[in-house]
Amino acid sequence: MNTVFRLFSLVLLASLPKGYAMDNLKLSSGYNIPSVGLGTSSIKPYDLENAIINALENGYKHIDTAFTYHNEEAIGKVLKKWFAKGGARENLFITSKLPSQGNRPESVEKYLKQSLKDLGLDYVDMYLIHTPFGLKEGVNNSPKEVNGIEIFENVNHNALWKEMEKQVKNGYAKSIGLSNFNQSQIDNVYKNAEIKPSNLQVEIHAYLPQKQLRQFCKKHNIVVTAYAPLGSHNSRTYLHKSTGKDLPALIDLPIIKDLAQKYKKSPSQILLRHTVQDDLVVIPKSSNSDRQKLNIDLFDFKLTAEDVKKIDNLDKGEKGRVFDFLKFYKGLENNPQYPFVEQS
Ligand SMILES: NC(=O)c1ccc[n+]([C@@H]2O[C@H](COP(=O)([O-])OP(=O)(O)OC[C@H]3O[C@@H](n4cnc5c(N)ncnc54)[C@H](OP(=O)(O)O)[C@@H]3O)[C@@H](O)[C@H]2O)c1
Repeated sequence: MNTVFRLFSLVLLASLPKGYAMDNLKLSSGYNIPSVGLGTSSIKPYDLENAIINALENGYKHIDTAFTYHNEEAIGKVLKKWFAKGGARENLFITSKLPSQGNRPESVEKYLKQSLKDLGLDYVDMYLIHTPFGLKEGVNNSPKEVNGIEIFENVNHNALWKEMEKQVKNGYAKSIGLSNFNQSQIDNVYKNAEIKPSNLQVEIHAYLPQKQLRQFCKKHNIVVTAYAPLGSHNSRTYLHKSTGKDLPALIDLPIIKDLAQKYKKSPSQILLRHTVQDDLVVIPKSSNSDRQKLNIDLFDFKLTAEDVKKIDNLDKGEKGRVFDFLKFYKGLENNPQYPFVEQS
């Protein structure tokens, strides 16, 4: 009976299409990270509670948030109800981030504990340093308040990382990683780390695929999370530098629409599949339950190498970047820790 079952499993495995991305990826910390998460940064406060409940009911296990998004308390309220209904903490993967104004060793635990309090959790699954550059304590995220004021503070990345490692040892974070760091900044942290960064969260979509950075991370066993994986078309017009802001929304491109028709999928699924198929995590934001369902349903088809190439050809390099942070922080481009100068 056992042999028949094993034979049946082998036949089943052999008949599965090769190259399918898993719906979980293994982190160097030993934990799994779900390949799709819900982005929450731009969900309107009045939509937030419903968006999170819908996402959990739609099967999302991974939620991406940050101190800076000012939504952790609201997410915490939803999680509390979810757990009361029988949802298990260990089935969820919650990411939070140390804000730029917390980028000094003595502030790490304070900000992480505040996020944990707001989320109503004992630990986060992933804690990321949100940016490689630092802001003075008390500096608000609003661009109006920082114009013309000396707002930056130099960050000692290695000393900061030591404190991040302490959060793992203390049990407040299962895994730790980086966000918006460039290759040489990651390399520096990596080389000096006792606990290696297991995750890098950066902007990645068809206009800005960042292939070289992805190669580097693959070599160092760092799982890459693609933020703004649909190209953040609603943010593009007001956030991007003037050069690239006229780029059309990726989901409206004829090439993407044609592929959607060919595979009988939505344009968003084509774009997200293109990214998860290369073993990246994606964290699309949607407040809409139907679109959330589309965005997580990526694992029953595979793009051919030829179609992957067609999407690869949309690469615009730096012109494709939406989140350059320059609209937020005046003078940031002159900060020596500004990350986006040496990447192509
Ligand atoms: N680490 C960082 O510094 C950083 C920076 C930026 C973003 N992030 C993270 O990445 C997440 C995602 O980024 P993002 O929100 O800027 O961009 P995105 O996920 O690329 O795009 C979100 C936009 O696409 C729409 N959308 C979602 N699903 C769709 C579908 N199936 N069809 C058509 N439109 C769809 C959404 O509208 P609806 O809601 O109406 O569906 C929203 O307007 C953020 O929420 C945040 O968690 C991190």
